[in-house]
Amino acid sequence: MQHLLKIAGNRTRRVSALLAVWFCASAGLSAQAMADERDLSVSPTPEKNFIIGGTPVQQESYPWTVALAHVANASLVQRQFCGGSVIADTWVLTAAHCLFDRSGNLLSLSDFTVATNARNLRDPDAQEHVVSNAYLHPDYNHNANNPHSDLALLELATSTGVTPVALSTKATENLVGLQGTVIGWGAVDFSDPASPLFPDQQYAVDVPVVTLDVCNAPISYAGSIFENQLCAGFAQGGRDSCVGDSGGPMVVTYQGVVQQIGVVSFGFGCALPNYYGIYTNVPYFIGWINQYVFVGEPEFEPEVSSSRGTTAISSSGSSSSGSTSLFALLILGAGLFARRRS
Ligand code: ARG
Repeated sequence: MQHLLKIAGNRTRRVSALLAVWFCASAGLSAQAMADERDLSVSPTPEKNFIIGGTPVQQESYPWTVALAHVANASLVQRQFCGGSVIADTWVLTAAHCLFDRSGNLLSLSDFTVATNARNLRDPDAQEHVVSNAYLHPDYNHNANNPHSDLALLELATSTGVTPVALSTKATENLVGLQGTVIGWGAVDFSDPASPLFPDQQYAVDVPVVTLDVCNAPISYAGSIFENQLCAGFAQGGRDSCVGDSGGPMVVTYQGVVQQIGVVSFGFGCALPNYYGIYTNVPYFIGWINQYVFVGEPEFEPEVSSSRGTTAISSSGSSSSGSTSLFALLILGAGLFARRRS
């Protein structure tokens, strides 16, 4: 919340990947705090933006979408903090940064669940699953200015019974220009970043995938976005994912098949002109994902090393940030914490 407030008073055009990250880092767990407030924030806002700029999902169009929710004695509406997608019966793809709290501490496996069948977070049929293992990509660095490789796999203790979403294995050049659809329960109104408005219903928004050159332009992210990321959105802004959508999927329909190409990662503000949404490039990481769940062969030579992260987090944790091996994380079943920057 503090970070959000700080940024709220500083909505300049200055490119600051760090601030952008703060939006996200604070998004995960502040979502709950903010959600708690939302029942009180009934004052009408002059201008409404949805998901931002999207529409509510009325039918079970995206049955493989899941909500990550804190374990607490409250409704799912108040506990949802991130999204994800079912990629195999008991496996969920999400963003690595979703697994950290606002203080930068890694969550314990017992701190959160994965909810399926929750198109509306108030739906009594929503089912929560215990997470038995979580694996963060070894190159993810929560403290980096641009926290790329922002993906994690969650293994669930119980079957979801959900038909998984296909993952795209396409090279980036084949994705640029496609219309991506992003789905989530994130803020639908971010006009006052200090009090975002969260929906009960899932929203979806269509955003075109743009080249990295576009979002690396000086008026945008100024060279800070990497090849293992995707940018999507509009130069004029207005439509975007937002706080609380992180970890959720961006899909395209390619040759008639719906397939996931991105994981919501971060953005500077939400839906601001020139600040496209930044997504983890799913095809880029197929090699890494395949080590846990076989999802298909990439149709190109992935440049990413696909070494499996095997460093266990110790319960005492560490505050170092530079080393990738430190973050070659295998969160063991017992649910361990790593203490990070506060
Ligand atoms: N990091 C945010 C989250 O944790 C997602 C922000 C996406 N922002 C954007 N402008 N597309 O929910």
